[in-house]
Amino acid sequence: MPLKLEGIRFAYPGREVLKGVETEVDDGEIRVVFGPNGSGKSTLLKIVAGLLTPHDGRVVVGDRDVTHLPPERRNVGYVPQDPSLFPHLTVEENIRYSERHGRGGEELFERLVDMLDLEDHLDLKPSELSGGYATRVALARALFSEPEVVLLDEPLSDVDLAAKAEIVPEMREVLKDFGAPTLYVTHDPWEAERMGDTFEVMVNGRTVRVSDVEEALEVLRTGGAEVARG
Ligand SMILES: Nc1ncnc2c1ncn2[C@@H]1O[C@H](COP(=O)(O)OP(=O)(O)OP(=O)(O)O)[C@@H](O)[C@H]1O
Ligand SMILES: [Mg+2]
Repeated sequence: MPLKLEGIRFAYPGREVLKGVETEVDDGEIRVVFGPNGSGKSTLLKIVAGLLTPHDGRVVVGDRDVTHLPPERRNVGYVPQDPSLFPHLTVEENIRYSERHGRGGEELFERLVDMLDLEDHLDLKPSELSGGYATRVALARALFSEPEVVLLDEPLSDVDLAAKAEIVPEMREVLKDFGAPTLYVTHDPWEAERMGDTFEVMVNGRTVRVSDVEEALEVLRTGGAEVARG
């Protein structure tokens, strides 16, 4: 079901971050979100995940207004920028966590473990993982819940280049198979190019749709001066 953000406004004390974000992401569409550090990308994802409530505007999934629903009632797969795993559970138990809620299946489990090369790590505890592997586990855990909306906040920023080159096409395929709308934050043009169907840039508290990565970089270079003054 499509994700629609309507007039989202949000401020931290003394700092207005989102000034009326409008966006719409279709089923099966991977929308890459670019934006400078501190422009509000993570804040926007937290609002869609239900961790923050916007001061104004609506988050709509299909025809359901979820703006005021708690995170656990949204069926959102969210990988935060700095994901934390459950420290007392093994890698496998972390991934399978959503089975408690009747979601996830064997075939998907195998596929995610294979895609992210986690086979040899399943019995480890999070404290025994490198940063890149911790990220992979967080990603597997989010996707294993078969979410209706997927939110990925720089999910591969800790993953080494060679692994990234393998993971990106496979992850795109998994996301495409889910067919959920996906918001994918990254600073990496290479990754964006291969992962995204559509692109937007966060500037001056709003998102601006652009046609490709090149245009996104142009908007970033100019600070969005000619597209979104305000
Ligand atoms: N909990 C908070 N309390 C107060 N201000 C915050 C909080 N979290 C973020 N901010 C501020 O809100 C603004 C947007 O932060 P956000 O994390 O959404 O940016 P971002 O686009 O994700 O940046 P980055 O690319 O560095 O991850 C920043 O100025 C940040 O300092
Ligand atoms: Mg961020």
